[in-house]
Amino acid sequence: MEKIELTSENIELYLNDCVALQAFLVSDPDSINADFFTKTAVCTHSYFLALVQEGKVMGLGVISKMTHPANVTGYVNNIVVHPDTRGQGLFSVIMDDLEEKAAQWGCTDLALTCSREAVQGMYLKRGYTHKETNFYLKKI
Ligand SMILES: CC(C)(COP(=O)(O)OP(=O)(O)OC[C@H]1O[C@@H](n2cnc3c(N)ncnc32)[C@H](O)[C@@H]1OP(=O)(O)O)[C@@H](O)C(=O)NCCC(=O)NCCS
Repeated sequence: MEKIELTSENIELYLNDCVALQAFLVSDPDSINADFFTKTAVCTHSYFLALVQEGKVMGLGVISKMTHPANVTGYVNNIVVHPDTRGQGLFSVIMDDLEEKAAQWGCTDLALTCSREAVQGMYLKRGYTHKETNFYLKKI
């Protein structure tokens, strides 16, 4: 399994697989927009990792750098492994790589949100702790 950073040079090659993988992550697959995925994947403050086997994307993970006056947080999102390759440790491969990127960026914290009960235990096992945060969101 190859670890590949998605960039403007290679995104076209992997875009269809990446969009297809999103369907295992979001509740409304019709909301997935390939153009938007491309734009976000080439953002300078985000790192998109693809796990590729025989040219096909089997796993994805994203980390974004958020800078505050007192800390630098790596925000982890979009973690997904293709159903054909689950249970083989790819979640850990993705998370190890994203956490390494956060360390390179000089992050002091890692953050993520996870509503899926089955997956929460995996983050707890990796040392993440559950926080009761006052999280607010506004669509613009
Ligand atoms: C969640 C998901 C990414 C896991 O991928 P995976 O490659 O099958 O996971 P892994 O095989 O690497 O297993 C992860 C580890 O968590 C452990 N684990 C599994 N269930 C667990 C639980 N409930 N509590 C604690 N640990 C658990 C596994 O034993 C494994 O540990 P190990 O690496 O020490 O052996 C995959 O099922 C998926 O893509 N699901 C749909 C999308 C999704 O829910 N994404 C997460 C959004 S927050």
